[in-house]
Amino acid sequence: MKLSGKTAIVTGAGSGMGKAIAVLFGQEGANVVVADINQTSINSVVDEINAKGGQATGVVSNVAQQEDVDNMIRTAVDTFHSLDVLVNNAGVMDNFTPVGDVTDKLWERVLAVNLTGPFKAARAAINVMKNQESGGVIINNASVGGLYGARGGAAYIAAKHGLIGLTKNIAATYGSFGNIRANAIAPGGVNTNIQSTITEPHELGLKALTAAGSGPSADPVQIARVAVFLASNDSDFVNGDVIKADGGWTAR
Ligand SMILES: NC(=O)c1ccc[n+]([C@@H]2O[C@H](COP(=O)([O-])OP(=O)(O)OC[C@H]3O[C@@H](n4cnc5c(N)ncnc54)[C@H](O)[C@@H]3O)[C@@H](O)[C@H]2O)c1
Repeated sequence: MKLSGKTAIVTGAGSGMGKAIAVLFGQEGANVVVADINQTSINSVVDEINAKGGQATGVVSNVAQQEDVDNMIRTAVDTFHSLDVLVNNAGVMDNFTPVGDVTDKLWERVLAVNLTGPFKAARAAINVMKNQESGGVIINNASVGGLYGARGGAAYIAAKHGLIGLTKNIAATYGSFGNIRANAIAPGGVNTNIQSTITEPHELGLKALTAAGSGPSADPVQIARVAVFLASNDSDFVNGDVIKADGGWTAR
């Protein structure tokens, strides 16, 4: 098992990629903290991990709220006595809204969940990891929208580009002068519940997406396998990188 003895927090672990990452981490021997805003889905993921022989506990945590983030970190340390891996996975979309039509409310919500949340969680996690001899690993689930301009609306694209910048800064400081690695994953299309949140896609945003061409859709476990690699010692010389997992979508 690749993650034996490691304690991992996965945010947004109630659904989609977060759920797949939490379940696979459990199967790879990690102690898993299943964090999400939805208690029912947390319970079901914790039950699934434990039923498969893993070790999991759940915590309701909105990554946009500092007190929830602090409670999430405390849960990991109190329950499992270390924090080795943080997966910042929780994220929301923005109906492909181009900048001219982005309301302050939409901008603030998308940035709060997709960028400020990962920052708050990384800050709290690093302050635990830097005191551990073994250091730690931070994995940020970004998107090809963190590398290209037309895979979401203005707020989503800005947040995901920011998340990749945050990843590189952590790597360049705590990785180069400490023992904490940070990497990002940039998935293309993945079959998850996030699609159901795109209720009123903006016509201009969709036009830009269509012009960028379409790609294949992944099963969430295909992204979870990348997260296991980044969390494990197999990637111990990989730091500050972005692994695209888009089935070749952006290679064309
Ligand atoms: N599905 C895709 O095609 C795709 C592609 C690239 C990147 N992503 C990114 O992958 C990540 C996971 O998305 P998914 O597709 O699995 O979505 P999903 O909607 O299936 O799951 C997201 C989970 O995050 C939780 N969540 C939402 N807001 C939260 C908050 N404030 N605090 C804590 N949890 C919260 C939800 O309850 C849900 O369980 C997101 O960051 C998303 O931007 C998705």
